[in-house]
Amino acid sequence: MTDAKGYLAKASAELDAPIRRYIQDEAPANLIAASRQYPYAGGKRMRPAMAVAAAKAVGGDGEKAVPLAVAVEYIHNFTLIHDDFMDGDEVRRGMKTVHVQYGAPTAILAGDALFAKAFQIIADLNIPPERAVEVLRYVSQAVWDLARGQQMDVNNEGRIVTEAEYLETIRLKTSVLFAAAAAGGAIVGGASRETVDAVHSYAMALGLGFQIFDDYLGVAGDPSKTGKSVGNDIRKGKCTVMITHAMSHIKDPAALAELRSALGNASATEEQIARARRILEESGSIAYGRAMAEEKAREAAAHLDALPPSAERDFMAALARYAVDREV
Ligand code: IPE
Ligand code: IPE
Ligand code: MG
Ligand code: MG
Repeated sequence: MTDAKGYLAKASAELDAPIRRYIQDEAPANLIAASRQYPYAGGKRMRPAMAVAAAKAVGGDGEKAVPLAVAVEYIHNFTLIHDDFMDGDEVRRGMKTVHVQYGAPTAILAGDALFAKAFQIIADLNIPPERAVEVLRYVSQAVWDLARGQQMDVNNEGRIVTEAEYLETIRLKTSVLFAAAAAGGAIVGGASRETVDAVHSYAMALGLGFQIFDDYLGVAGDPSKTGKSVGNDIRKGKCTVMITHAMSHIKDPAALAELRSALGNASATEEQIARARRILEESGSIAYGRAMAEEKAREAAAHLDALPPSAERDFMAALARYAVDREV
């Protein structure tokens, strides 16, 4: 079985130089520094690794997908800069978030700048123009959908949403960008329509599992590993699948009251967050979320049956499992 973490680390290292290539030293220096902060620090780089792997898995030239991979990572990082401001988070990748470090105006512009650079890179892809246009369609639609999903996420704060509403929100805010990365890579690799669709479905399902698991890490993760604060989703009243489950399964009024007192309580203490976590564990809500994430990952991997066997296909399958079983 492919070691997704090892493969990802290698792919990430190979992407390091390309990721640094496109942001020149220009004025003003603070905008450039703010734009570089997340891409240079490097997260897991799952989306760009997926773009390159998909191009290879469909029999194409992975090198040609590298600029697309960079573009997708810039878009991801642009959304993280804006997301951290929106979520009021102060730590990412173990560093101060961009709006904390440089101020909100610079964070807004750094996001915009990365967004623009991504499309510049796509315009220069070394592939037939009709394929480049197709890539552009996927990526631009993904950013549009992502904005819708992020707005739903904000609108959902402080509400108990249904599972269907939650899944629609994460489909839009998270899955579509994974899917654009994977489908884009497959298009660069010269895949047929059916194959592009299969790769797209793979990444959509992976993205759902990934975000469900991410929400789990946001409650039960180790901040020294995730590089993000833990408990803030609860403090902000973010309604995850675990919370939805808890609200309809907790029978003990005292436990329910205690969970509710932490939810959306910006000044909830570490102790209150720890108790909320315990309540979610005891109600089976955490196990429920994890099981759902694992189910999505299995669904994702099944879509890869449409591809011929290859090391890259194996990596993509392993990545689906990694998305729902990781510490970072
Ligand atoms: C974080 O994405 C944002 C979500 C969609 C949950 P990642 O967990 O892929 O972030 P990095 O790029 O590895 O830091
Ligand atoms: C991730 O959403 C941001 C995007 C999908 C754009 P979250 O707000 O849930 O993720 P983290 O926890 O900040 O990384
Ligand atoms: Mg956030
Ligand atoms: Mg958010």
